[in-house]
Amino acid sequence: MSNCRVCAGPLTEFLDLGRQPNSDAFPRPDETDGEFFFRLAVGRCGTCTTVQLMEEVPRERMFHRDYPYHSSGSSVMREHFENTAHRLLATEATGPDPFVVEIGCNDGVMLATVGEAGVRHLGVDPSQGVADEARSKGVRVRTAFFEEATARDIAAAEGRADVVYAANTLCHIPYLDSVFRGLDALLKPDGVLVFEDPYLGDIVERTSFDQIYDEHFYFFTARSVRNTARRHGFELVDVLRLPVHGGEVRYTLARLGARVPKPAVAELLAEEESRALAAPATLERFAADVRRTRDELVTLLTGLRAQGRRVVAYGATAKSATVANYCGIGPELVSSVHDTTPAKQGRLTPGSHIPVHPPEAFADPYPDYALLFAWNHAEEIMSKEQEFRASGGKWILYTPTVHVL
Ligand code: SAH
Ligand code: TYD
Ligand code: ZN
Repeated sequence: MSNCRVCAGPLTEFLDLGRQPNSDAFPRPDETDGEFFFRLAVGRCGTCTTVQLMEEVPRERMFHRDYPYHSSGSSVMREHFENTAHRLLATEATGPDPFVVEIGCNDGVMLATVGEAGVRHLGVDPSQGVADEARSKGVRVRTAFFEEATARDIAAAEGRADVVYAANTLCHIPYLDSVFRGLDALLKPDGVLVFEDPYLGDIVERTSFDQIYDEHFYFFTARSVRNTARRHGFELVDVLRLPVHGGEVRYTLARLGARVPKPAVAELLAEEESRALAAPATLERFAADVRRTRDELVTLLTGLRAQGRRVVAYGATAKSATVANYCGIGPELVSSVHDTTPAKQGRLTPGSHIPVHPPEAFADPYPDYALLFAWNHAEEIMSKEQEFRASGGKWILYTPTVHVL
Protein backbone atom coordinates (compact mmCIF):
# COMPACT_ATOMS: atom_id res chain seq x y z
CA MET A 1 0.00 0.00 0.00
CA SER A 2 1.19 3.52 -0.76
CA ASN A 3 0.95 6.51 1.50
CA CYS A 4 0.01 10.10 0.77
CA ARG A 5 2.94 12.29 -0.35
CA VAL A 6 1.38 15.25 1.47
CA CYS A 7 0.41 13.87 4.89
CA ALA A 8 1.49 10.18 4.92
CA GLY A 9 -2.15 9.09 5.36
CA PRO A 10 -3.40 5.89 3.71
CA LEU A 11 -4.15 6.01 -0.03
CA THR A 12 -7.12 4.17 -1.51
CA GLU A 13 -6.75 3.36 -5.19
CA PHE A 14 -9.80 4.10 -7.37
CA LEU A 15 -8.51 3.81 -10.95
CA ASP A 16 -5.90 1.55 -12.57
CA LEU A 17 -4.77 2.69 -16.05
CA GLY A 18 -2.35 -0.18 -16.42
CA ARG A 19 1.19 -0.44 -17.70
CA GLN A 20 2.27 2.92 -19.11
CA PRO A 21 5.43 4.43 -20.59
CA ASN A 22 6.98 7.86 -19.98
CA SER A 23 4.39 10.02 -21.70
CA ASP A 24 6.95 12.36 -23.29
CA ALA A 25 9.54 9.76 -24.35
CA PHE A 26 9.10 9.31 -28.10
CA PRO A 27 11.41 6.47 -29.22
CA ARG A 28 13.06 6.25 -32.61
CA PRO A 29 11.79 3.22 -34.55
CA ASP A 30 14.99 1.33 -33.54
CA GLU A 31 14.75 2.28 -29.86
CA THR A 32 11.55 0.58 -28.75
CA ASP A 33 13.33 -2.14 -26.77
CA GLY A 34 14.55 0.28 -24.13
CA GLU A 35 11.25 1.85 -23.10
CA PHE A 36 10.51 2.41 -19.43
CA PHE A 37 7.12 1.33 -18.07
CA PHE A 38 5.35 1.75 -14.73
CA ARG A 39 1.89 1.09 -13.32
CA LEU A 40 -0.32 4.16 -13.69
CA ALA A 41 -2.96 4.15 -10.96
CA VAL A 42 -4.64 6.90 -8.97
CA GLY A 43 -5.68 7.01 -5.34
CA ARG A 44 -7.23 9.32 -2.77
CA CYS A 45 -5.82 10.08 0.65
CA GLY A 46 -8.26 9.10 3.38
CA THR A 47 -6.84 11.79 5.66
CA CYS A 48 -6.28 14.96 3.59
CA THR A 49 -8.34 13.96 0.44
CA THR A 50 -5.50 14.74 -2.00
CA VAL A 51 -5.82 12.71 -5.21
CA GLN A 52 -2.45 11.46 -6.47
CA LEU A 53 -0.61 8.73 -8.37
CA MET A 54 0.03 5.47 -6.52
CA GLU A 55 3.53 5.19 -8.02
CA GLU A 56 6.12 7.91 -8.51
CA VAL A 57 8.33 7.95 -11.63
CA PRO A 58 11.90 9.21 -10.96
CA ARG A 59 12.03 12.88 -11.98
CA GLU A 60 15.21 12.53 -14.08
CA ARG A 61 13.40 10.05 -16.34
CA MET A 62 10.88 12.73 -17.26
CA PHE A 63 12.63 16.11 -17.14
CA HIS A 64 16.01 16.20 -18.88
CA ARG A 65 17.91 17.75 -21.76
CA ASP A 66 15.58 16.30 -24.39
CA TYR A 67 12.21 17.00 -22.74
CA PRO A 68 10.15 17.65 -25.88
CA TYR A 69 7.19 19.73 -24.65
CA HIS A 70 7.28 23.36 -25.81
CA SER A 71 4.82 25.66 -24.11
CA SER A 72 4.91 28.12 -27.01
CA GLY A 73 3.44 25.57 -29.45
CA SER A 74 -0.08 26.97 -29.11
CA SER A 75 -1.10 30.54 -29.98
CA VAL A 76 -3.90 30.38 -27.40
CA MET A 77 -1.39 29.45 -24.69
CA ARG A 78 1.07 32.16 -25.83
CA GLU A 79 -1.70 34.72 -25.38
CA HIS A 80 -2.76 33.20 -22.06
CA PHE A 81 0.76 33.51 -20.64
CA GLU A 82 1.29 37.00 -22.01
CA ASN A 83 -1.90 38.08 -20.23
CA THR A 84 -0.77 36.24 -17.09
CA ALA A 85 2.56 38.10 -17.11
CA HIS A 86 0.82 41.46 -17.42
CA ARG A 87 -1.50 40.51 -14.58
CA LEU A 88 1.36 39.46 -12.25
CA LEU A 89 3.24 42.67 -13.11
CA ALA A 90 0.18 44.79 -12.34
CA THR A 91 -0.87 43.07 -9.10
CA GLU A 92 2.20 41.54 -7.43
CA ALA A 93 5.38 43.01 -8.89
CA THR A 94 4.50 46.54 -7.80
CA GLY A 95 7.17 47.58 -5.26
CA PRO A 96 10.63 48.99 -6.01
CA ASP A 97 12.83 46.54 -7.94
CA PRO A 98 10.40 43.61 -7.83
CA PHE A 99 11.62 40.03 -8.35
CA VAL A 100 9.55 37.36 -10.12
CA VAL A 101 10.48 33.66 -10.03
CA GLU A 102 8.87 30.99 -12.18
CA ILE A 103 9.01 27.26 -11.41
CA GLY A 104 8.88 25.28 -14.68
CA CYS A 105 9.38 28.23 -17.05
CA ASN A 106 9.90 25.87 -20.01
CA ASP A 107 10.69 27.86 -23.19
CA GLY A 108 10.05 31.20 -21.50
CA VAL A 109 6.50 31.63 -22.74
CA MET A 110 5.50 33.65 -19.63
CA LEU A 111 8.79 35.16 -18.43
CA ALA A 112 9.69 36.65 -21.83
CA THR A 113 6.99 39.29 -21.23
CA VAL A 114 8.28 39.94 -17.69
CA GLY A 115 11.81 40.35 -19.08
CA GLU A 116 10.63 42.69 -21.83
CA ALA A 117 9.02 44.86 -19.14
CA GLY A 118 12.50 45.21 -17.60
CA VAL A 119 11.49 43.39 -14.39
CA ARG A 120 14.03 41.26 -12.53
CA HIS A 121 13.14 37.59 -12.92
CA LEU A 122 14.46 34.05 -12.81
CA GLY A 123 13.07 30.86 -14.30
CA VAL A 124 13.86 27.48 -12.79
CA ASP A 125 13.58 24.45 -15.06
CA PRO A 126 15.56 21.18 -15.10
CA SER A 127 14.98 20.55 -18.83
CA GLN A 128 17.99 22.08 -20.53
CA GLY A 129 16.72 22.12 -24.12
CA VAL A 130 13.64 24.19 -23.37
CA ALA A 131 15.57 26.30 -20.83
CA ASP A 132 18.07 27.22 -23.56
CA GLU A 133 15.19 28.29 -25.73
CA ALA A 134 13.97 30.57 -22.96
CA ARG A 135 17.48 32.04 -22.73
CA SER A 136 17.42 32.79 -26.43
CA LYS A 137 14.39 35.03 -25.68
CA GLY A 138 16.37 36.97 -23.08
CA VAL A 139 14.95 35.06 -20.11
CA ARG A 140 17.24 34.24 -17.18
CA VAL A 141 17.01 30.56 -16.26
CA ARG A 142 18.62 28.26 -13.73
CA THR A 143 18.69 24.68 -15.01
CA ALA A 144 17.59 22.90 -11.83
CA PHE A 145 14.71 21.21 -10.08
CA PHE A 146 12.98 23.67 -7.76
CA GLU A 147 13.17 22.34 -4.21
CA GLU A 148 14.33 23.64 -0.85
CA ALA A 149 18.06 23.81 -1.70
CA THR A 150 17.46 25.59 -5.02
CA ALA A 151 15.17 28.14 -3.37
CA ARG A 152 17.70 28.88 -0.61
CA ASP A 153 20.45 29.36 -3.20
CA ILE A 154 18.30 31.79 -5.17
CA ALA A 155 17.31 33.77 -2.07
CA ALA A 156 20.97 34.02 -1.02
CA ALA A 157 22.18 35.06 -4.47
CA GLU A 158 19.35 37.32 -5.65
CA GLY A 159 17.23 38.23 -2.67
CA ARG A 160 13.64 37.36 -1.86
CA ALA A 161 10.84 37.21 -4.40
CA ASP A 162 7.58 39.16 -4.56
CA VAL A 163 5.88 36.36 -6.44
CA VAL A 164 6.68 32.79 -7.37
CA TYR A 165 4.59 31.54 -10.27
CA ALA A 166 4.12 28.03 -11.66
CA ALA A 167 1.86 26.78 -14.47
CA ASN A 168 1.31 23.08 -15.06
CA THR A 169 4.31 22.32 -12.89
CA LEU A 170 3.39 22.10 -9.20
CA CYS A 171 1.17 19.11 -9.99
CA HIS A 172 4.34 17.48 -11.43
CA ILE A 173 6.20 17.66 -8.11
CA PRO A 174 5.58 14.89 -5.54
CA TYR A 175 8.01 16.48 -3.02
CA LEU A 176 5.82 19.46 -2.15
CA ASP A 177 7.13 19.55 1.45
CA SER A 178 10.55 20.53 0.10
CA VAL A 179 8.95 23.02 -2.30
CA PHE A 180 7.08 24.72 0.56
CA ARG A 181 10.19 24.94 2.73
CA GLY A 182 11.87 26.54 -0.27
CA LEU A 183 9.01 29.00 -0.74
CA ASP A 184 9.26 29.96 2.90
CA ALA A 185 12.92 30.81 2.36
CA LEU A 186 12.41 32.56 -0.95
CA LEU A 187 9.25 34.64 -0.61
CA LYS A 188 9.15 38.08 0.98
CA PRO A 189 6.88 38.30 4.06
CA ASP A 190 3.96 39.42 1.88
CA GLY A 191 5.08 37.41 -1.16
CA VAL A 192 2.72 34.96 -2.86
CA LEU A 193 2.81 31.69 -4.74
CA VAL A 194 0.49 31.79 -7.75
CA PHE A 195 0.05 28.47 -9.54
CA GLU A 196 -2.35 26.87 -12.00
CA ASP A 197 -2.94 23.21 -12.72
CA PRO A 198 -5.63 20.97 -14.24
CA TYR A 199 -8.62 20.95 -11.87
CA LEU A 200 -10.00 17.68 -10.54
CA GLY A 201 -13.48 19.21 -10.83
CA ASP A 202 -13.10 19.53 -14.62
CA ILE A 203 -11.37 16.14 -14.99
CA VAL A 204 -14.28 14.41 -13.25
CA GLU A 205 -16.94 16.42 -15.08
CA ARG A 206 -15.40 15.83 -18.53
CA THR A 207 -14.06 12.33 -17.88
CA SER A 208 -10.73 13.71 -19.11
CA PHE A 209 -8.76 10.79 -17.71
CA ASP A 210 -5.91 11.53 -20.12
CA GLN A 211 -4.83 14.27 -17.69
CA ILE A 212 -3.53 11.31 -15.71
CA TYR A 213 0.03 10.37 -16.78
CA ASP A 214 3.50 10.04 -15.27
CA GLU A 215 4.19 13.79 -15.07
CA HIS A 216 0.85 14.69 -13.48
CA PHE A 217 1.31 13.41 -9.95
CA TYR A 218 -1.38 15.48 -8.17
CA PHE A 219 -4.98 16.30 -9.16
CA PHE A 220 -5.77 19.30 -7.01
CA THR A 221 -8.96 20.71 -5.56
CA ALA A 222 -9.32 23.94 -3.60
CA ARG A 223 -9.77 21.78 -0.53
CA SER A 224 -6.63 19.70 -1.01
CA VAL A 225 -4.57 22.78 -1.87
CA ARG A 226 -5.81 24.59 1.23
CA ASN A 227 -5.01 21.58 3.43
CA THR A 228 -1.56 21.17 1.93
CA ALA A 229 -0.75 24.88 2.20
CA ARG A 230 -1.80 25.05 5.87
CA ARG A 231 0.50 22.20 6.81
CA HIS A 232 3.34 24.44 5.66
CA GLY A 233 2.24 27.79 7.10
CA PHE A 234 0.46 29.10 4.01
CA GLU A 235 -3.18 30.01 3.34
CA LEU A 236 -5.23 29.74 0.16
CA VAL A 237 -6.25 33.36 -0.46
CA ASP A 238 -7.63 33.34 -4.00
CA VAL A 239 -8.82 30.97 -6.71
CA LEU A 240 -9.74 31.55 -10.34
CA ARG A 241 -11.10 28.99 -12.77
CA LEU A 242 -9.38 29.03 -16.15
CA PRO A 243 -10.59 27.55 -19.46
CA VAL A 244 -7.13 26.47 -20.70
CA HIS A 245 -6.03 22.81 -21.01
CA GLY A 246 -9.57 21.58 -20.50
CA GLY A 247 -10.16 23.43 -17.22
CA GLU A 248 -7.72 24.58 -14.58
CA VAL A 249 -7.71 26.54 -11.35
CA ARG A 250 -5.23 29.30 -10.53
CA TYR A 251 -4.51 29.27 -6.79
CA THR A 252 -2.88 32.09 -4.82
CA LEU A 253 -1.16 31.22 -1.52
CA ALA A 254 0.15 33.71 1.03
CA ARG A 255 1.68 33.20 4.45
CA LEU A 256 -0.94 32.41 7.12
CA GLY A 257 -2.41 35.69 8.32
CA ALA A 258 -0.69 37.84 5.68
CA ARG A 259 -3.75 38.33 3.47
CA VAL A 260 -7.52 38.05 3.83
CA PRO A 261 -8.88 35.25 1.60
CA LYS A 262 -11.08 36.47 -1.26
CA PRO A 263 -14.74 35.32 -1.31
CA ALA A 264 -13.97 33.14 -4.35
CA VAL A 265 -12.14 30.69 -2.06
CA ALA A 266 -15.15 29.99 0.17
CA GLU A 267 -17.36 29.80 -2.93
CA LEU A 268 -15.23 27.15 -4.64
CA LEU A 269 -14.85 25.18 -1.39
CA ALA A 270 -18.64 25.21 -0.98
CA GLU A 271 -19.15 24.08 -4.56
CA GLU A 272 -16.70 21.20 -4.06
CA GLU A 273 -18.52 20.24 -0.90
CA SER A 274 -21.96 20.29 -2.51
CA ARG A 275 -20.85 18.12 -5.43
CA ALA A 276 -18.86 15.82 -3.10
CA LEU A 277 -15.94 16.30 -5.49
CA ALA A 278 -13.28 14.19 -3.81
CA ALA A 279 -15.68 11.75 -2.11
CA PRO A 280 -14.95 8.06 -2.73
CA ALA A 281 -18.32 7.54 -4.48
CA THR A 282 -17.64 10.41 -6.92
CA LEU A 283 -14.23 8.99 -7.78
CA GLU A 284 -15.64 5.48 -8.24
CA ARG A 285 -18.23 6.92 -10.64
CA PHE A 286 -15.44 8.73 -12.51
CA ALA A 287 -13.55 5.44 -12.82
CA ALA A 288 -16.66 3.76 -14.27
CA ASP A 289 -17.02 6.65 -16.78
CA VAL A 290 -13.39 6.14 -17.80
CA ARG A 291 -13.95 2.43 -18.48
CA ARG A 292 -17.05 3.25 -20.54
CA THR A 293 -15.14 5.84 -22.59
CA ARG A 294 -12.44 3.26 -23.29
CA ASP A 295 -14.98 0.66 -24.43
CA GLU A 296 -16.83 3.13 -26.65
CA LEU A 297 -13.66 4.49 -28.24
CA VAL A 298 -12.31 1.01 -28.98
CA THR A 299 -15.67 -0.05 -30.43
CA LEU A 300 -15.76 3.02 -32.67
CA LEU A 301 -12.18 2.57 -33.93
CA THR A 302 -12.45 -1.16 -34.57
CA GLY A 303 -15.76 -0.56 -36.38
CA LEU A 304 -14.14 2.05 -38.64
CA ARG A 305 -11.26 -0.30 -39.37
CA ALA A 306 -13.74 -3.06 -40.31
CA GLN A 307 -15.36 -0.60 -42.74
CA GLY A 308 -11.96 0.13 -44.30
CA ARG A 309 -11.88 3.78 -43.15
CA ARG A 310 -8.53 5.51 -42.70
CA VAL A 311 -8.09 7.01 -39.23
CA VAL A 312 -5.17 9.15 -38.05
CA ALA A 313 -4.67 11.20 -34.88
CA TYR A 314 -3.87 14.86 -34.31
CA GLY A 315 -1.54 16.06 -31.52
CA ALA A 316 1.15 13.77 -30.07
CA THR A 317 0.27 14.94 -26.57
CA ALA A 318 1.61 13.51 -23.34
CA LYS A 319 -2.05 12.96 -22.44
CA SER A 320 -2.54 10.66 -25.43
CA ALA A 321 -0.01 8.15 -24.08
CA THR A 322 -2.59 7.27 -21.43
CA VAL A 323 -5.42 6.93 -23.96
CA ALA A 324 -3.44 4.87 -26.47
CA ASN A 325 -1.86 2.52 -23.92
CA TYR A 326 -4.97 2.10 -21.77
CA CYS A 327 -7.25 1.49 -24.76
CA GLY A 328 -4.72 -0.57 -26.74
CA ILE A 329 -4.70 1.84 -29.69
CA GLY A 330 -1.71 1.21 -31.97
CA PRO A 331 -0.81 1.74 -35.63
CA GLU A 332 -3.35 -0.89 -36.77
CA LEU A 333 -6.21 1.36 -35.55
CA VAL A 334 -4.63 4.80 -36.01
CA SER A 335 -2.01 4.89 -38.75
CA SER A 336 -0.19 8.14 -37.84
CA VAL A 337 -0.23 11.09 -35.45
CA HIS A 338 0.34 14.61 -36.74
CA ASP A 339 2.18 17.13 -34.59
CA THR A 340 4.07 20.41 -35.01
CA THR A 341 6.88 19.50 -32.57
CA PRO A 342 10.06 18.77 -34.58
CA ALA A 343 11.51 16.61 -31.76
CA LYS A 344 8.50 14.28 -31.90
CA GLN A 345 8.39 13.94 -35.71
CA GLY A 346 10.00 10.84 -37.20
CA ARG A 347 9.60 9.13 -33.82
CA LEU A 348 6.96 6.75 -32.44
CA THR A 349 4.37 7.44 -29.76
CA PRO A 350 5.45 6.08 -26.36
CA GLY A 351 4.40 2.47 -25.77
CA SER A 352 1.82 2.47 -28.60
CA HIS A 353 4.34 3.03 -31.44
CA ILE A 354 2.24 5.09 -33.82
CA PRO A 355 4.51 7.05 -36.23
CA VAL A 356 4.53 10.82 -35.65
CA HIS A 357 4.43 12.96 -38.78
CA PRO A 358 4.30 16.73 -39.34
CA PRO A 359 0.91 18.45 -39.78
CA GLU A 360 1.67 19.03 -43.49
CA ALA A 361 1.34 15.27 -44.08
CA PHE A 362 -2.19 15.36 -42.62
CA ALA A 363 -3.60 16.72 -45.89
CA ASP A 364 -1.63 14.32 -48.05
CA PRO A 365 -4.29 12.96 -48.59
CA TYR A 366 -6.78 13.71 -45.79
CA PRO A 367 -7.89 10.66 -43.77
CA ASP A 368 -11.56 9.78 -43.28
CA TYR A 369 -11.35 10.42 -39.52
CA ALA A 370 -8.95 12.21 -37.19
CA LEU A 371 -8.81 11.37 -33.51
CA LEU A 372 -8.18 14.67 -31.74
CA PHE A 373 -5.63 13.82 -29.05
CA ALA A 374 -5.00 17.56 -28.51
CA TRP A 375 -8.68 18.15 -27.67
CA ASN A 376 -7.70 20.95 -25.29
CA HIS A 377 -6.58 22.91 -28.36
CA ALA A 378 -9.70 21.96 -30.39
CA GLU A 379 -10.65 25.48 -31.40
CA GLU A 380 -7.16 26.42 -32.53
CA ILE A 381 -6.59 23.18 -34.44
CA MET A 382 -10.04 22.92 -36.03
CA SER A 383 -9.81 26.49 -37.23
CA LYS A 384 -6.46 25.95 -38.94
CA GLU A 385 -7.57 22.58 -40.36
CA GLN A 386 -10.96 23.75 -41.68
CA GLU A 387 -10.22 22.23 -45.06
CA PHE A 388 -10.29 18.74 -43.51
CA ARG A 389 -13.99 18.90 -42.61
CA ALA A 390 -14.82 20.87 -45.74
CA SER A 391 -13.49 17.93 -47.74
CA GLY A 392 -15.65 15.43 -45.83
CA GLY A 393 -13.33 14.47 -42.95
CA LYS A 394 -14.62 13.96 -39.41
CA TRP A 395 -13.10 14.60 -36.01
CA ILE A 396 -13.34 12.01 -33.24
CA LEU A 397 -13.38 13.31 -29.66
CA TYR A 398 -13.47 11.31 -26.44
CA THR A 399 -14.23 13.99 -23.90
CA PRO A 400 -16.69 14.55 -22.27
CA THR A 401 -17.96 11.45 -24.12
CA VAL A 402 -16.95 9.69 -27.32
CA HIS A 403 -18.45 11.62 -30.24
CA VAL A 404 -17.86 12.39 -33.91
CA LEU A 405 -17.92 15.93 -35.34
N1 SAH B 1 4.87 26.34 -17.41
C1 SAH B 1 4.83 25.76 -18.73
C2 SAH B 1 5.50 24.37 -18.78
C3 SAH B 1 4.72 23.23 -18.24
S1 SAH B 1 5.54 21.68 -18.53
C4 SAH B 1 3.42 25.67 -19.24
O1 SAH B 1 2.48 25.80 -18.48
O2 SAH B 1 3.25 25.43 -20.43
C5 SAH B 1 6.29 21.39 -16.96
C6 SAH B 1 7.66 22.02 -16.85
O3 SAH B 1 8.09 21.86 -15.48
C7 SAH B 1 8.73 21.35 -17.70
O4 SAH B 1 9.41 22.31 -18.47
C8 SAH B 1 9.64 20.64 -16.68
O5 SAH B 1 10.99 20.58 -17.10
C9 SAH B 1 9.46 21.52 -15.46
N2 SAH B 1 9.70 20.91 -14.13
C10 SAH B 1 9.44 19.64 -13.71
N3 SAH B 1 9.80 19.49 -12.41
C11 SAH B 1 10.28 20.70 -11.99
C12 SAH B 1 10.81 21.20 -10.77
N4 SAH B 1 10.93 20.44 -9.68
N5 SAH B 1 11.23 22.48 -10.72
C13 SAH B 1 11.13 23.29 -11.81
N6 SAH B 1 10.62 22.88 -13.00
C14 SAH B 1 10.21 21.60 -13.08
P1 TYD C 1 -0.67 19.77 -25.00
O1 TYD C 1 -2.06 19.30 -25.11
O2 TYD C 1 -0.50 21.23 -24.81
O3 TYD C 1 0.08 19.11 -23.78
P2 TYD C 1 0.49 17.65 -23.29
O4 TYD C 1 1.57 17.14 -24.19
O5 TYD C 1 1.04 17.99 -21.96
O6 TYD C 1 -0.70 16.75 -23.24
O7 TYD C 1 0.15 19.31 -26.27
C1 TYD C 1 -0.21 19.75 -27.51
C2 TYD C 1 0.51 18.96 -28.57
O8 TYD C 1 -0.17 19.18 -29.80
C3 TYD C 1 1.96 19.39 -28.75
O9 TYD C 1 2.77 18.26 -29.01
C4 TYD C 1 1.88 20.30 -29.98
C5 TYD C 1 0.69 19.78 -30.75
N1 TYD C 1 -0.05 20.81 -31.48
C6 TYD C 1 -0.13 20.72 -32.86
O10 TYD C 1 0.41 19.78 -33.48
N2 TYD C 1 -0.81 21.69 -33.55
C7 TYD C 1 -1.41 22.73 -32.91
O11 TYD C 1 -2.02 23.60 -33.56
C8 TYD C 1 -1.33 22.80 -31.48
C9 TYD C 1 -2.00 23.91 -30.73
C10 TYD C 1 -0.65 21.81 -30.81
ZN1 ZN D 1 -2.90 13.04 2.68
